[in-house]
Amino acid sequence: MSRTPHNPWLELGSGPLIAPSLLACDFARLGEQVDAVTAAGGDAIHIDVMDGHLVDNLSVGPPVVASLRKYTDTVLDVHIMVTNPAYYVERFIETGADSVTFHIEAVDRPVELADRLHEAGRGAGVVLRPATPADAIAQAAAAVDMVLVMTVEPGFGGQHFMQDMLPKIEAVRAMLRDDQRLQVDGGINEETAARCAAAGADVFVTGNYVFAGSDMSGAIGRLRRAVGG
Ligand code: DX5
Ligand code: ZN
Repeated sequence: MSRTPHNPWLELGSGPLIAPSLLACDFARLGEQVDAVTAAGGDAIHIDVMDGHLVDNLSVGPPVVASLRKYTDTVLDVHIMVTNPAYYVERFIETGADSVTFHIEAVDRPVELADRLHEAGRGAGVVLRPATPADAIAQAAAAVDMVLVMTVEPGFGGQHFMQDMLPKIEAVRAMLRDDQRLQVDGGINEETAARCAAAGADVFVTGNYVFAGSDMSGAIGRLRRAVGG
């Protein structure tokens, strides 16, 4: 099969991006919430997939992403917290996800998985849990479009930002080319986003900060200003 490089993150421009996480939305009104957060200025929709094994929670799977794909043209950024990403990457390619980010702790051959995503015309991301050092992605870094540095323990929204992840963000940024994105996820608000931006992050996942309040566009606007977007 011919290789079709596709980097949805660069197609959104070179400035900072805000990716609202649906984990904090009202799932009874999923489509409506996607519309609202897109109208409010969200650049991509972050979807947290949890298998109850890699993390202590269950969330949504391929049928939900496939339904969202039919519903919206907004970039679908799927973060898979699963123990067998090689299998599930195929399932999420089938759903029409634009980008899939898999945990480095759960995969033996990350470069192969990133290559597979590119071959299918999707973006590829790799993610590190808080306890995983930056050098765990030394081999994989060049092969992906984005590295996600978790700023909380993955599994649940609404946790406090881990300040001690800032040096890791700096270390990962030093490993990346200018055309590669650095995403942060967990406890992101206008203050923590500014600290992450100063350390080199340029894609900001935000769950409760955007969905818990009554003013989504105000929250996204404040985040964007905080990160210089
Ligand atoms: C946690 C998820 C996050 C989470 C972020 O495992 O990866 O995307 O939803 O939520 P907040 O912004 O509320 O910390
Ligand atoms: Zn996430």
